[in-house]
Amino acid sequence: MPRVFFPRFAMLTCFVVTLCWNLDLNFSTVHHHPRRGTIAATTACIASFLGSQQTTAETQRTVLITGANSGIGLATAIDLAGKGWKVVPLCRSQGKLRETLEDITDLVPDANIETTPPCELSDLRSVGACINKIKTSGNKFDALIFNAGIDGAPFQKTAQGHELHFAVNHLSHFALRNGLKDVVKDDHRVVSVTSSAALDAEVDLSDLTWEKRTYGRHDAYAASKACNVLFTDELARRFHGKGSFASANCIDPGPTATQIVRYAYPERALQRKDMTPMQLEKQARMFGLKTPAQAAQGVVWLSESNEVRQLPDGQWWNGPKILFPSVELSWRNEAMAKGLWETSEEFVKPFL
Ligand SMILES: NC(=O)c1ccc[n+]([C@@H]2O[C@H](COP(=O)([O-])OP(=O)(O)OC[C@H]3O[C@@H](n4cnc5c(N)ncnc54)[C@H](OP(=O)(O)O)[C@@H]3O)[C@@H](O)[C@H]2O)c1
Repeated sequence: MPRVFFPRFAMLTCFVVTLCWNLDLNFSTVHHHPRRGTIAATTACIASFLGSQQTTAETQRTVLITGANSGIGLATAIDLAGKGWKVVPLCRSQGKLRETLEDITDLVPDANIETTPPCELSDLRSVGACINKIKTSGNKFDALIFNAGIDGAPFQKTAQGHELHFAVNHLSHFALRNGLKDVVKDDHRVVSVTSSAALDAEVDLSDLTWEKRTYGRHDAYAASKACNVLFTDELARRFHGKGSFASANCIDPGPTATQIVRYAYPERALQRKDMTPMQLEKQARMFGLKTPAQAAQGVVWLSESNEVRQLPDGQWWNGPKILFPSVELSWRNEAMAKGLWETSEEFVKPFL
């Protein structure tokens, strides 16, 4: 059902409850679920209460978000749902999809969420099937947010023979963009979540499977995050070449207290999964990290702010209105971006 109105009373209630929650005021009537009510809650509720306009089927914007069940992706989904966007979250299992729905609607009760079949990003067959389903859903996307990611996995090849970081962090998103290019609005935005780890990257298009070089977990993550930047550069160039109103940007959200550490520090990742917002905020402060809601601000800004329309795209950002420091990088050039695009195109072609 299209979302046609936004009840301000519900949002005010949500805002007050969440604020009290974050201030650690204990109401016995408020049922605390550890996974729910991320720190994003306050932000989302304030945004919803203050920013909610009457949203009609005509004005509602639609976003697809990968990795929407956790960390920065979930905080982004909550924020945009609170601002009246229709959210299409991609998760890899029905169970995670259900939890995501609960997490979003707990904070944004009248959120408009459309579910898709599970999408396992390490398997291009699953991504292809998901694309086919989304293409027939009747949605026209205003934004595609390519956020899902893994960091520090031991060497592993996917069913299609690709290295895992490359497959999940880059190739699946490349497939999603190309597979969905006919179901986006003319002025849609593509936002990719990269990392400052890309600064350490060495991109070797002739050895994407790490057979000639010694595999390193950080090296593979760094290279896949460089691919996010190269994808953005090439996509923006292609948009400009066609005189398109669409835009592509990428962003490093900065070090954030999420489950991205699941390979490096599995216990810490598990602990974070069950933390209350207060506990997570405390840990973030202690380690000098951002909370997921803080990290999501830049992603949200790139996806929905009118201000972004006035700015050149094809940029690597660090936060709202903050560009990532410009540095000379061995891999960041037009030939590499074009080469990666063409290689990726060949890899995904059989699945689209
Ligand atoms: N946190 C940081 O410090 C930091 C810093 C710089 C950049 N980033 C980037 O931020 C993005 C979001 O990460 P996060 O920090 O929010 O970490 P997170 O909490 O671990 O979230 C990662 C998301 O990606 C999904 N994902 C991973 N592998 C998948 C697969 N094979 N199929 C489908 N979904 C998959 C996860 O789903 P499951 O729950 O099913 O695994 C989860 O929803 C990543 O691209 C990361 O590189 C993070």
